[in-house]
Parts: sequence; structure tokens; C-alpha cells
Amino acid sequence: MIKPSASDSKPKPASAPHAALLLDWYDQARRVLPWRALPHEQADPYRVWLSEVMLQQTTVQAVKPYFETFLRLFPTVESLASAPTEQVMSAWAGLGYYSRARNLHACAKQVSTQYQGEFPRDYNSLKALPGIGDYTASAIMAIAFDERAVVVDGNVERVITRLFRIEQPLPLSKPAIKQRAEQLTPHERSGDYAQAMMDLGATLCTPRSPSCFLCPVRGHCAGNKSGDEATFPRKLPKKSRETRYGAAFMCLRADGAVLLRTRPDKGLLGGMSEIPTTHWDAEATDPTKDTAHAPLELNWQQVLPPVRHVFTHFPLVLRVYIAQAPLGTEAPEGMRFTPRQALSGEALPTIMVKAIALGLDNL
Ligand code: ADE
Repeated sequence: MIKPSASDSKPKPASAPHAALLLDWYDQARRVLPWRALPHEQADPYRVWLSEVMLQQTTVQAVKPYFETFLRLFPTVESLASAPTEQVMSAWAGLGYYSRARNLHACAKQVSTQYQGEFPRDYNSLKALPGIGDYTASAIMAIAFDERAVVVDGNVERVITRLFRIEQPLPLSKPAIKQRAEQLTPHERSGDYAQAMMDLGATLCTPRSPSCFLCPVRGHCAGNKSGDEATFPRKLPKKSRETRYGAAFMCLRADGAVLLRTRPDKGLLGGMSEIPTTHWDAEATDPTKDTAHAPLELNWQQVLPPVRHVFTHFPLVLRVYIAQAPLGTEAPEGMRFTPRQALSGEALPTIMVKAIALGLDNL
């Protein structure tokens, strides 16, 4: 009788077959991406950090030109740190969530001054930097430093919920997903493993019609066994997307300057510019009371039709009011008059571009 060798009899970690199959697949199917080191190249923490922050905004395809522009303008973390804020914001324009760009700049400054331009190789120190949360700190630890870290983004959530047929809906299932991800994450080749899971989710384990016949881990996938893989992840029913209503006030001073303010950093359109508006409420508020909320006492006139915009979570109907202000009118606290020619340099979301265009057409 053949006795098992000592290594055969050792219990294998839960990750072993899954990680080995996935890494073999990654070695021949890995995507070539501008921020990704080639096999046997050393990853650059600056590129990894920059790409991960940008990829939280949008898709790989949409990020590529922004990433390339950033690297051309700011080839190192120090050059990004010492760039003027306006240059960073304008290179970011179009990616949305301007508070992320502000955090990106603040993070570059802190890495330059506190860490002499070297990203710290430590999860807690990374997480203490502006704009770096659990996901980004884990991704940098794994991809830039090849340290074991559990990296779970939307793609990985989909892969894990299918592998284990996790019935609990997202976002409630996040702790269970993290626990499974923890069990699967190997102790070697952490960076390749993290990127392999992302690539699997992006290329084969796709939301609608997953290509299970090409999947290296289908033999370990409970979803594939049941044939209902595409129904995962389960999700809580969407909240109803009730239309919200509001009023916006477009004030043009006699010298051609427009009254603007900046939205709070957190929340919808965080850190972006806008003409002053009321709250956006789900109940259609009484339009005759709109001008009570105007930023200045002027002869406000409503222009029709209202501006409409569909955000991810709700449609918005914005009633637009216009008024001319005499020369010398001062902006109320927290607001500013911006010359008309300088409007293109403002971080104006689409809804505000529509409202201002409507206002200017009628003034
Ligand atoms: N999505 C988020 N981070 C990614 C990465 N490093 N590679 C590919 N897709 C990603």
C-alpha cells in the first residue's frame, strides 16, 4: 500500500484548488492594462493607487484616457502633490465626484510630505490617508506590495455570491461575502490573485450571461452546479425612484457674472458647482413659495419649461427662476459671482449646465 507523504496528509487551506486554478487561468488570460505591471515587472504603487481611485468612479474603458492624461501631466506622486488644485480638478473633470479628486490631491500631498513620496507598505497607514478606504488600502497592499489582503469590489462580490450561492441579498450579504473571500485568498501571489478575481468578474463571470464554459473554477461553483448562477448576486428590491422637485435661481449681475455656490463635499454631486437651489423634495412643493428661498431679493421670473434630469436614484424636475442684479451686488455668504467667460472652468454638473443655459437664453 502506498502511504500518503507528509505533505499529502497536511490539511490544505480552503483557498488551495480555487486559487491554483484561478492563477493558472490568469497566467494565460490576464488583461493588459495601462496601470498593470507585466509579468515579472515590479508594480508601481503610484499607478496602482491612482488607477484604483479612478476605477471606483467608472469602467476600465472610461478610466484609460484619464489615467494616461494624469501620468503625462503628473508622472510621480510628488508632481501631482505640487500641481495647482485647478489643474488636478480640470484633469479629473468628467470623471464626476469632485470630492474624490480633492482627496486624491490631498493624499498625494500627504504621501510626499509624510512619507517622502513612497506609499506606506502598511494597511492601517494607507487607510489613514485621504480618500483611501478599506477597498483601496487592500487593493494597494495586494497589487502594489504583493501582501496578502482581502480585496472585494463589485466584480468579486458577483463571483463569490455565485461560487457559494449566497442567498442573502446585497448589501446585507457583504460580511458573508468578505468571510468567504477571506477563506479563498491565498498566501502567495496576492496581487495576481486579486487581479485574477477582478478579471474573472469582468470577462467571464459577467452580470447577465456568464461564460461558465470557459471558467477555470466552474467545478467549484455552486451556482454553476444549480444552473442558476446568473441570478446571483441577490439584491434588495430597489427603493422606488420617486421624482423629486426643486427650484433653482439663476442670477445674472449687470457685469455678466453668474451667482454660484459649491455643493457640500459629501453626497450627490459632492463638491460640484451649482446655481443656488432649494432642497430637492419627493413631494411636489408649492411653486408659489419658491421665491421665498431665493438667494437675493430681486425680481425673479420663472422660465418654462422646467429642466429635467434623471440621476441614478431619482428623476429631478427643477423649476428655473431668473433675475438680473445691479452692478455692485455682493454675493451672499458662501456664494460667489463667477464671470460668464469663467463658467467653463467651473465643475458644473449636467443639470446645472441645462439650468444655466435656459436662464441665459431668457435673460
Ligand atoms: N477594477 C478595479 N480595480 C481593478 C484592477 N486593478 N484591474 C482591473 N479591474 C479593476
